[in-house]
Amino acid sequence: MTKRALPASATVSEDAGGGRLRLPAADRNKDAIATLVAGLVEDRDSGHALELASGAGQHIVEHARRSPRITWQPTEVDAARRTSIDLLAQDAGLPNIRPSIALDATAPGWSDAHGGQDLILLVNLLHLISTEDCRTLIREAGRALAPGGQLMLYGPFMRGGELTSDGDRRFHAELTGADAAIGYKDDFDITDMIHASGMELAQLVEMPANNLAFVARRFG
Ligand SMILES: C[S@@+](CC[C@H](N)C(=O)[O-])C[C@H]1O[C@@H](n2cnc3c(N)ncnc32)[C@H](O)[C@@H]1O
Repeated sequence: MTKRALPASATVSEDAGGGRLRLPAADRNKDAIATLVAGLVEDRDSGHALELASGAGQHIVEHARRSPRITWQPTEVDAARRTSIDLLAQDAGLPNIRPSIALDATAPGWSDAHGGQDLILLVNLLHLISTEDCRTLIREAGRALAPGGQLMLYGPFMRGGELTSDGDRRFHAELTGADAAIGYKDDFDITDMIHASGMELAQLVEMPANNLAFVARRFG
């Protein structure tokens, strides 16, 4: 994994006590994301969901609470964050969250050990990695999905090559100022990567605060 220089605005994390962390962005966006995700699995009696870059664990606890018939697997590269994920899962007392595992979502080949997923989730990572890493991540996610499985990618994106708000222009400039290889990806490029990875774009959802959610489905 290439260690990226990130601006402070991209890495805000608070100490929530006893090894628990809290990412304020997740507190703001988790309800809207959890509502979308619950709708993706509402007709399933069972299933396996893998979250990439689970952060402090706030999202996966919410998904597991709303969709108890699904088994949720959190993953993270950062060891302190994995500790937080496991503590939040333990606090929630939900039997359908597995212990977190170390996974670099940009490493070629990770899908070999994580196949057969019904759902893969990724929130707020694509703007923090390079375009090449983004392509690898989406390709591996496509391979890790079972036929008909779904991939949900959430975050801030350009639309048709344009940054569409002052806040987005400012954040993108901070990201590229810290590392020229990272920054917002374009919605058309993401759609092309989805198509090149054996999936179709099933939904493109406008989310609060000018974010987007891509829902892709692997061909059966
Ligand atoms: C902005 S945070 C988002 C965390 C979480 N998805 C959320 O929304 O709360 C980005 C996360 O990606 C993780 N990360 C960075 N590079 C990664 C990689 N190559 N593979 C997996 N996780 C990565 C970081 O450790 C961090 O927890």
